[in-house]
Amino acid sequence: MKRPISILVAAFALFAAFLALEVSTDSIGMRSAVAGLFVPQDTLKGPKIEFNEEVHNFGKIEQNTSPTTTFMIKSVGTDTLEIVSANPSCGCTAVLLDPAKKRLAPGQSVELKVTFDAHNKAPGNMTKVITVSSNAVNGAQRQLRITGDIFKSTVAHAGSAMSIQGVFEGSCASCHVEKGKGELGAKLYEADCAVCHGDAKEHKPGADIASDAMMNYEPSEWKKIIADGVPNSNMPAFHTKHKGPLNDEEIASLVDYMSAFKKNLMRERQMKSLNGGGASTGTSNTHK
Ligand code: HEC
Ligand code: HEC
Repeated sequence: MKRPISILVAAFALFAAFLALEVSTDSIGMRSAVAGLFVPQDTLKGPKIEFNEEVHNFGKIEQNTSPTTTFMIKSVGTDTLEIVSANPSCGCTAVLLDPAKKRLAPGQSVELKVTFDAHNKAPGNMTKVITVSSNAVNGAQRQLRITGDIFKSTVAHAGSAMSIQGVFEGSCASCHVEKGKGELGAKLYEADCAVCHGDAKEHKPGADIASDAMMNYEPSEWKKIIADGVPNSNMPAFHTKHKGPLNDEEIASLVDYMSAFKKNLMRERQMKSLNGGGASTGTSNTHK
């Protein structure tokens, strides 16, 4: 009865020792075993490809802009590298590769220009892939990535100079006409005018309503400016007779609103200068 137990114990001890040996050699032994199986890439002969970077992070990307980056593709092998194609994963990514430079002798390199178009892209993180196909022995299909964090733009027409032509038509109407439909006075101003008139810091091309530039007019002058626009500028002609969206009544409601606004402003300024008393702070003349 004693013997089988001692054999069992001995067998277990051997097994345990084997396990311990296995574990202790694992970290070093395994690595050299793997290295032995695969030929190190440096000794591969033939065309090889290398990039200056494989992931480009644009960081913050403003909606409606098109940031660009340039990847460098380098031929680092012992044979001519032939680039077959560079295909983006999305129609929103454009790539530019000089077709005359698709064959690269060892040591030569070529630029791959990548442009991401963030027009109408939802805010948030994005990653797009560009697959570079070539005859490289170190990867016939290599993936480059562009990433970034898209944030909502305060600029509606960034990147392209807008023409006033057609501002009240087609898709332009959604922002420049629709919101004001059925509205009068302050609400109509908010919809049709404040889209362009406001804080210059928010890229508004037109002056703020409270500015002297807007207020220093008589009602009849406002009426004319709104109806006929300002020639050779981005102030459109709003009257229906110029194919604009506003009739006489709607324009009159705007003029009334601006007149009331001006009256209020004058009263506020008067109050301020009265309250300011003798101790002049120099603020009585500013418009706010
Ligand atoms: C998504 C809403 C939106 C759409 C659609 C839109 N606009 Fe605008 N537009 C704006 C805003 C907001 C401004 C004020 C400037 C800014 O924020 O870029 C503006 C300003 C303008 C300006 C003055 C630009 C300047 O800097 O002087 C013009 C001209 C213009 N739009 C024309 C158009 C035309 C033409 C279309 C159609 C092709 C159009 N817009 C479509 C929102 C829009
Ligand atoms: C597409 C953008 C746009 C829209 C929409 C727009 N404006 Fe303008 N507006 C301008 C620009 C730009 C100017 C400056 C023109 C210039 O160069 O003199 C201007 C000028 C004016 C002026 C003359 C004061 C000045 O600064 O020269 C008045 C008044 C005015 N706008 C009122 C309005 C009213 C009221 C509305 C709404 C019915 C409106 N605007 C809608 C762009 C716009």
